[in-house]
Order: sequence, then C-alpha cells, then structure tokens
Amino acid sequence: MKLYRAKDYYDMSRKAANIISAQVIMKPNCVLGLATGSTPVGIYKQLVEWYNKGDLDFSQVKTANLDEYKGLARDNDQSYYHFMHENLFRHVNIKEINTNIPDGTEPDAQKEAARYEEAIQNLGGIDLQLLGLGHNGHIGFNEPSDIFPKDTHIVDLQESTIEANKRFFKSIDEVPRQAYTMGIGTIMRAKKILLVVSGGDKADILQKAIKGPVTPRVPASILQLHPDVIIVADEAALSKF
Ligand code: F6R
Repeated sequence: MKLYRAKDYYDMSRKAANIISAQVIMKPNCVLGLATGSTPVGIYKQLVEWYNKGDLDFSQVKTANLDEYKGLARDNDQSYYHFMHENLFRHVNIKEINTNIPDGTEPDAQKEAARYEEAIQNLGGIDLQLLGLGHNGHIGFNEPSDIFPKDTHIVDLQESTIEANKRFFKSIDEVPRQAYTMGIGTIMRAKKILLVVSGGDKADILQKAIKGPVTPRVPASILQLHPDVIIVADEAALSKF
C-alpha cells in the first residue's frame, strides 16, 4: 500500500485527480471504476477543470460504477446515475455507451447483478478503481458482515448507512433500503485501487482498515491483501497514524 498525505480536502482531491489523469494519459482506453458520495466530488471537479483546459481526453475511456440504489430511476436526482452525470459525465467527452452503472429499475435482482458482473468482465476488467470509505468500513455497499461477498449482488442497507444517507432525501422513508454493489471480489480484481479518505470522522475507521486485522467486519481491510493500492488521505483522516 502506498499512502499519500494530503493537507486538506482540496489537496486530497488534486492528488487523487492527478493519479486518475495519469491513468487516462498512459492508457487512453482505460477502464475506470468510479465511486459516488461526497469524497470524490472534488476529484471530479478537478478532472473537469483539466478537461476544459484541454489536458484530458475521455473519448475512449470506459467506466463502471461501484453501486446504485435499487428502485431509483435514472432521472431520480438521488440516483447514482444522476450523480455521475451531474458531477462528471455531462462535463467531459465521455461516450454514454462507455459508461456502466447498475440498473436500479431492474426488478430481477439476480439477473441485474449477473448482467453487471458480466459487463465488467466484457470490459476486460478495471484498470483503476476509485473507492471512498464508509464510516463502518464499507467499500461500495459491501457492509460489515461474516463474509466477503464475491461478485456484484444486491444488499440490504444497514440502518447506519440509511441514517448517513438520509441527508440527501426529503425524509428517511424515501431512502432506498436496498442497493446493487460490486462485490469485494469484483473490487479486488481491479488492477489498481485508489482509496480516498477525508475528515477526522474517518480517522478511526481508516486506522482499522489499514492497520487492523483483515476481517469482513471491516470490509475495507481486505485492501491490505491487494498488490497495488494507493491511499490518498488528508491530515484529519490520518490523525490516528
Ligand atoms: C459510493 C460508495 C460508498 C462511499 C462511502 C463513503 O459509490 O460506494 O462506499 O464511497 O459511503 O461516502 P462519502 O464519500 O459520502 O463519505
């Protein structure tokens, strides 16, 4: 694991965006695994800025997102489809056909999970997977459990995750109870992983994930076993190191 210390959120975003840019420049037709949530917003903003300056070309880039709420249509402003379009896709020259996000409206969960896993395989796998870190150690929507789930699957969201995500909805009743997520196996098959972490509220869990035992109770701890992980975290998130 390589750990890069950033001063603050802005610095973290720039350092991480630099790593993604390097990937796109070195392999213009690379496959990027992408994340939503608040942590990557600054990274996407920086990538858009560099694209507008003419420094980046997304015309051959393919993407696969980590997860999507079950039951939310694409035009729902809380869907991850909407998030990705608002924060990145509609600002750069990526082709819609080259972007992949689980379909939250497919009622047959097994079918959608299998379709998505196959779609990632058909892309030839993920070159660089961007990850945020949940307060409970989740990556994607792989919540703490007794096992590391292998492939893309449907999950029941934990109360703590529903609680954390309610800020984005009108009321807690509107927060979806289920989501599609890449499995831990899907994530671990990525050639390179970029974990970004910001804020003092993540300091404890980051310490457990990197220094603690590898356990499905802290899903991100599995990253200790991946051969090529880069962590970019700000000083607040690294305060327990
Ligand atoms: C998002 C995702 C989640 C988030 C995590 C951290 O696609 O898969 O695992 O990365 O919940 O979220 P933020 O960045 O909002 O703290």
